Amino acid sequence: MAKLDRYKISPRMVGRTALVTGGASGIGRATVERLAYEGANVVIADLQTALAQELRVELKVQGCEHISVASCDVSDEEQIVAAVELTKRTYGGLDILVNVAGVSSPSRQTATEMDLQEFRRVLSVNLEGSFLFIRQALPLMIDKRFGRIVNVTSTAAVMTSDRTTPAYSSSKAAIAGLTRQLVYAYSRFGITSNSVCPGHIKTPLSLRLGEESLRARERTIPVGRIGDPEDVAAAIAFLSSDEASFITGQMLVIDGGQTTVINYGESHGE
Ligand SMILES: NC(=O)c1ccc[n+]([C@@H]2O[C@H](COP(=O)([O-])OP(=O)(O)OC[C@H]3O[C@@H](n4cnc5c(N)ncnc54)[C@H](O)[C@@H]3O)[C@@H](O)[C@H]2O)c1
Repeated sequence: MAKLDRYKISPRMVGRTALVTGGASGIGRATVERLAYEGANVVIADLQTALAQELRVELKVQGCEHISVASCDVSDEEQIVAAVELTKRTYGGLDILVNVAGVSSPSRQTATEMDLQEFRRVLSVNLEGSFLFIRQALPLMIDKRFGRIVNVTSTAAVMTSDRTTPAYSSSKAAIAGLTRQLVYAYSRFGITSNSVCPGHIKTPLSLRLGEESLRARERTIPVGRIGDPEDVAAAIAFLSSDEASFITGQMLVIDGGQTTVINYGESHGE
């Protein structure tokens, strides 16, 4: 457990089963590690099956036995049904659904530059994938009279920058709306629905920006650093736990304070 010992926490998810989409890399990977370390059975649903299998083996070596991999494209409903079936068959149900899988557009595109096909591609992974997984997971959670849904949105849902595109911003704002909408119908079954809203986090997705660009972004973050995937995973784990039963419909911003300041520039701390 050496690597995961950094969490210094006691297992609170023993007996729970979680499914994490996009669990092979970045924020999803850190979430898988965290939930597994806390004792949950975890199904990793990702396109990158080989990477997910590597993580499964790594976790097994560290003592986390109950990890499974579902090869799954979240824009394909049949594959989503199969991933949830696998979870049910292997672990007898599903308690925690974490929708992390997401894509952005390759270049900075304005509304007039973006074609409809690209707009739909991003929405189909980010928004429809989350919706379809939620739809499959809810009956299993209703059966258990317990459920935790955590969706990963982005500060792009509430602010814009040179990096966001119409498709990405729309998809992330819609995920926050979807998260809240579930509260009305499903709270009475013990199911909570929350979203986490990361700012700049160090992952393969954001490292594509390049070192110089990341340093510039760092200067706009009051806490003075880019976030780690583990910063987001810790919040997801809390919202997935039994302790968070009275928190639902919320969006938790995890951005080092970036969205709380205007024109912070290079002078933070003064
Ligand atoms: N990194 C950041 O700064 C940041 C900030 C805000 C929000 N987010 C959001 O966090 C989530 C994770 O991003 P990340 O930075 O960890 O990225 P990442 O690229 O490291 O991980 C994304 C994972 O999603 C998987 N994925 C992509 N499309 C998929 C599909 N169609 N079906 C199944 N799996 C698919 C990828 O294989 C990958 O494992 C995304 O939703 C992203 O929008 C990231």
